Amino acid sequence: MQSDNGLSDAWGVIDLVQALTAALDAKSSYTRGHSDRVAELSWALARELGQGDREAESARIAGHLHDIGKIGISDSLISKAGALTPEELETMRRHTRIGASLVEQVAHLRGYAPAVRGHHERWDGRGYPDGLSGDSIPIEARIICIADSYDAMTSVRSYRAQLSATAAVEEIRRCSGTQFDPELVEAFARLFAAGELPLLLRIEELVNADPVIHFRAAIENA
Ligand SMILES: [Fe+2]
Repeated sequence: MQSDNGLSDAWGVIDLVQALTAALDAKSSYTRGHSDRVAELSWALARELGQGDREAESARIAGHLHDIGKIGISDSLISKAGALTPEELETMRRHTRIGASLVEQVAHLRGYAPAVRGHHERWDGRGYPDGLSGDSIPIEARIICIADSYDAMTSVRSYRAQLSATAAVEEIRRCSGTQFDPELVEAFARLFAAGELPLLLRIEELVNADPVIHFRAAIENA
């Protein structure tokens, strides 16, 4: 998915991702930090699955971009406390299609569109926007789905209580084979058992003060 045109193009991707995610963060403080954590968790899960540097870096970049379609959703809806009406839910779900079409318009990012579009698909086919199931869901999307859910459950949200890391992993295990790819759930549980999930989040918080340096360090180390 990443360009094969050398480091200069890789840096171009970084700048584009930075610009897009900065636009989302400027729009909504509610999502600030979420995409960074999902990106780091996605990278770690990809590595735990045995993916190489390039594939894991693709998962990381797709993680940064996954909710970029929320640029096209109203602030009041994104930050609404309490349950969404069916109409609001339908509107919110459009962020997957909006995000994919936005990413598709940028030549260097086009390869990430399937992951952005598919990050709310479910293993059992009951997700959206396309109702894909099993292996037909892009692997990056399946990875992001778990990372996204874990971060949402362990973050403070106005409409529900924050879960501990242990409780969030238990919930992900409970949804193995329905919402999530069972093989990925096992890999994620191994990361947790190794104590690497909380460590990842602490590292992310430390580097979050200068995400550009963090991004570039990630590419240089890849
Ligand atoms: Fe999303």
